[in-house]
Amino acid sequence: MIKNRLLKDIFFGTEIEKLDAGTSQVISILNNLQDFADIDRKDWENILDIVKSFFKSPIKGRFGGPITPGDAFFMAAFLAAKRPKSVIEVGVCAGVSSAFTLYAGRKLGLLKEGRKFLHSIDLLRFHGPAKNEVGQVVRLNHPDLLPYWNLIVETTMPDAVLHRPDILNAIRADQPSLGFIDANHMHPWPLIDTLAMTRMLPKNSWVLHQDTQVMERWLANSVELGVPCPTPCRGGNLVSTLWPGQKVIGWGMCYNMAAIKLDVTSEEIRSFSENAFQYPPEVGNAEAMSTGITIEEILKDK
Ligand SMILES: C[S@@+](CC[C@H](N)C(=O)[O-])C[C@H]1O[C@@H](n2cnc3c(N)ncnc32)[C@H](O)[C@@H]1O
Repeated sequence: MIKNRLLKDIFFGTEIEKLDAGTSQVISILNNLQDFADIDRKDWENILDIVKSFFKSPIKGRFGGPITPGDAFFMAAFLAAKRPKSVIEVGVCAGVSSAFTLYAGRKLGLLKEGRKFLHSIDLLRFHGPAKNEVGQVVRLNHPDLLPYWNLIVETTMPDAVLHRPDILNAIRADQPSLGFIDANHMHPWPLIDTLAMTRMLPKNSWVLHQDTQVMERWLANSVELGVPCPTPCRGGNLVSTLWPGQKVIGWGMCYNMAAIKLDVTSEEIRSFSENAFQYPPEVGNAEAMSTGITIEEILKDK
């Protein structure tokens, strides 16, 4: 809850009590998409109920920067509209987004016995000196959903795509058709993760990006808490702005989410990548180079 008067007209995304009003504009925007043609008023009410019921009790074991109810609403909308057999997620941390994806998947009737509904990748196994376990929110709050989850730690998307056929094949076997990226938000990581997604998902898939307006969030935190704002981080914003295909920018309470559709040609992906890679890296040159990734490698065999 924001207390600072200067911020009274902006959303953080956490205002669950404002979910109905805070998502009405994004519903109108999504209703204009062909992919949402079958989603009617009852479906939207169901999506709102799913978000409210997930966030109604305190979430045990959460840490890091989890998704908000506003983000979750945007994610659930795409789950309901596209009804994927499985989903690929990058960036797990405590696992709030993982738990929500599995929870919403069950409520929407998308889980199937013997099939992993969610394949999640994270760079780490533990976080910080307290050694908080990546993904612990699912285990602590929704242990019944664990059989539908494939958690892959100490891996990155380019690593999985380029060097780990075991991981790639296990994910592809479950026919994923939706992606969710909430990992390193500094350019070029969201770009690299997006390119890797193009290798794993069919062309009619959507890839959801979280923290596309993370600077808005950080500036609000600075005003609220009186702390310095970190250096700019616009990686997710850059991808959704430059993407050459269909895209949707979150609005209202979903302001920090965007979705891009992979319905583009290899040539369009190539020129998008070349354009985006011209923007200076936010992670520092050495770290950006150490990913060792090239456009040629990512687009190989497309
Ligand atoms: C913001 S947190 C994710 C929050 C999570 N989605 C949630 O709702 O609880 C970002 C996570 O991304 C992971 N990460 C950072 N860089 C990564 C990379 N290049 N590939 C995969 N995971 C990465 C971090 O270890 C961290 O756990």
